[in-house]
Amino acid sequence: MSEEPKIAQKGPYILEMEPGTYFWCRCGRSKTQPFCDESHKGTSFTPIEVKIEKKSRIFWCGCKHSGNKPYCDGSHARLKEEKVSA
Ligand code: FES
Ligand code: FES
Repeated sequence: MSEEPKIAQKGPYILEMEPGTYFWCRCGRSKTQPFCDESHKGTSFTPIEVKIEKKSRIFWCGCKHSGNKPYCDGSHARLKEEKVSA
């Protein structure tokens, strides 16, 4: 069974990131978007671990439907309106 992620935001979270290890929320349920806060417990989702080597601006996917997770690839523009409020 494949579960649908929740759309946290229909667009990217654009953040200036410091080097380090981050866990991108794949399920869309986290209250600390775009990062995992363990709200995925009880779902089939797990976060994606990302290592950032140098200070950089990251476009984190907020809609959770990117074809290049955890990064925004523009897929949010093709999401159906009715999915957004889910
Ligand atoms: Fe998900 Fe852009 S926010 S593809
Ligand atoms: Fe969404 Fe952990 S809270 S993957």
